[in-house]
Amino acid sequence: MSVKEKEVIAWLSERKLMPSPELITHVVNHPEGLVLLEKSVESLATPKLFLSVSDLLVDEVSEPPKPVSRPKVADIPPVIIERQIDKSMSDGKLESFVSLFNDRFTTLSRLVRRNPSMRDAGTLSQLNPDEENQVIGMVSEINTFSNGKVKVAIEDKNARLNLMLNESDGVSLNLLHDEVIGVSGKLNRQGNMLFVNSPIVRPHLGRYREASRAEEPYIALFISDIHLGSGTFKENEWNKFVSWLNGEVDYHKEWIPNPGYLVVAGDAVDGIDSYPGQEADLSITDVWEQYSVLSESVAKIPNTIQTVIMPGNHDAVRLMEPQLPLPDKVIKDFGDNLTFTANPVLLDLAGVKVLCYHGKSLDDLVSLRDLSYDNPMAMMKELLNRRHLAPIYGAKTPLAPEKQDHLLIRDVPDIFVTGHVHSCGVERYNGILMMNPGTWQAQTAYQKMMGFQPDPCRAIAVNLQTFDTQVLDFNF
Ligand SMILES: [Fe+2]
Ligand SMILES: [Fe+2]
Repeated sequence: MSVKEKEVIAWLSERKLMPSPELITHVVNHPEGLVLLEKSVESLATPKLFLSVSDLLVDEVSEPPKPVSRPKVADIPPVIIERQIDKSMSDGKLESFVSLFNDRFTTLSRLVRRNPSMRDAGTLSQLNPDEENQVIGMVSEINTFSNGKVKVAIEDKNARLNLMLNESDGVSLNLLHDEVIGVSGKLNRQGNMLFVNSPIVRPHLGRYREASRAEEPYIALFISDIHLGSGTFKENEWNKFVSWLNGEVDYHKEWIPNPGYLVVAGDAVDGIDSYPGQEADLSITDVWEQYSVLSESVAKIPNTIQTVIMPGNHDAVRLMEPQLPLPDKVIKDFGDNLTFTANPVLLDLAGVKVLCYHGKSLDDLVSLRDLSYDNPMAMMKELLNRRHLAPIYGAKTPLAPEKQDHLLIRDVPDIFVTGHVHSCGVERYNGILMMNPGTWQAQTAYQKMMGFQPDPCRAIAVNLQTFDTQVLDFNF
């Protein structure tokens, strides 16, 4: 037995705690194992006799993603990747799922508790039968009744509780599975149901604040969903956009990032096998050929512009989120003034924090009342309010059981960008500039069938110093 092992076992036996063998191995191999163990035991909702790895706090300190600064290629601050998945740690083991959900619950419940009304929230296993109880839990079941009552089950790390809520005046509570909420109310006589008598408290967005600004008026351009390779890719308009970047088109020249940034928020190409029968809709049926044509086009972008390419659900990476950056096989064809990131990614562009997420989860959110594909801004607000980019686990958005939850919105960004829905929108919300630039693909047969009108050939320009914005429309 190693010295460290002895130390850990002594620490546990002093406190009369029974560890699983995996817990000991984990703590011994951890650079600050005893500190982690102590913190984890302190934060247990209820005292425990048996401890397993899932009781350990997800360790944010030992593996912080290190910001990666790209080489400076233009006369502007380099693109910095503040936060993204570096490599997949998903092993499919049950413990990884537990660790992922623990990370989600711990982080979000801490944010719910920042609301003054939730400061004294207790755990679900320690409720007071006679008084008002404040509780925080993860939604595990939702039943809506026709009389406006909603029965919800919530869980924390140790217990489960039924809640009864009212959807008064037709205002939807818009509850989602797996989101973390706080409520207060009184228990029924049997002690198995909490009658909620207050509004739902969602994770805190922080106070309204001014965005960080660049020191110089650099322009960042945001585009998404190019879908190169699709038969409905708007090639002429795209080429016009590239010419415009080169100063060759007389249209809003003041918004050309010279120097500046260009961010592609996913679905750079149309891919193959993204949906059944896609081949019939493609003009380029080989995905590597699609990237190769894209690289030729991107090579025409002046190198005073630093381009960032994030993948989406049509790109040649795993579908499960978080998605890793495009493979080296693709990247090698592109120039030096490009940064390939994971999805999602938190970027630092000249001091401005930009959160980019392709937006597959908007397919889940659209099922909520009053939300639709042509209003992506409303859906983005719902994501920000829940401080999570893909709140529902196991719906239309495939999520990888990574040990950490990379889809948490841990830091409130200055700019929040999504794509995927092919609708253009810009709005400010609580000091955050939200946007969805639209697409470079004309209406597809599927969209026509669904009666959906996309917004093709748009780019959204932002002055990173003043935060002035301009939607640029290349349909001319
Ligand atoms: Fe798309
Ligand atoms: Fe997409």
